[in-house]
Amino acid sequence: MSDHAAIGVGWTGASGLAYGVRLVEVLLKAGRDVNLVASGAVAQTAPVELGQPVEAVVAGLQGIGPGRLRVFGQGEFTAPLASGSARGGPFVVVPCSMGTAGRIAAGTSETLLLRAADVCLKERRPVIVVPRETPMATHHLENLARLSAMGVLVLPAAPGFYHRPQSVADLVDFIVQRICDHLGVDVDLAPRWGEPEA
Ligand SMILES: Cc1cc2nc3c(=O)[nH]c(=O)nc-3n(C[C@H](O)[C@H](O)[C@H](O)COP(=O)(O)O)c2cc1C
Repeated sequence: MSDHAAIGVGWTGASGLAYGVRLVEVLLKAGRDVNLVASGAVAQTAPVELGQPVEAVVAGLQGIGPGRLRVFGQGEFTAPLASGSARGGPFVVVPCSMGTAGRIAAGTSETLLLRAADVCLKERRPVIVVPRETPMATHHLENLARLSAMGVLVLPAAPGFYHRPQSVADLVDFIVQRICDHLGVDVDLAPRWGEPEA
């Protein structure tokens, strides 16, 4: 267990589950504890995008250390993520569906993932959402703008190409590194502009 508060990670049913899985892996390897919650829709995206049921994807992350992984269900409102009085860290929704973006903006809180985001907002803790949709409707953009105005960092799943990615993993790592930058977790996953490549 690290000295830092655990980082909350929420996976939703947007495309790009690989971003969320890689983030958890990188945080655990960096020694950060992670509290993970997945929406019900991930049961559908995991087999399509990663060729495995979500349970197998989560099992593959268990035992990666030195950080500790705790996994919570969407109905577990007794989880630390659900309370402002628990020692709490930032919360990252990655990938973030348009539905979840709208529900966070509206503060509906009807699942643990939504409640965790709401708790961070009320406690003025960092929230990062990594939206994925294309094209976006006006209400999607308005919801994201509303989140931004509430202090949420909107970090779209839109990797750059100036580092000449060679693989999907390179594209994923570009986004995961940007998330880690904003979490204050120092990682070297992708070349950085202006720095010589390792
Ligand atoms: C393979 C697959 C890909 C999807 N991709 C997206 C997407 O990129 N963005 C999005 O907003 N919804 C996407 N959806 C639809 C969401 O899963 C759906 O709206 C769901 O209700 C989201 O629920 P959640 O926000 O609770 O996870 C996708 C669904 C599937 C099965």
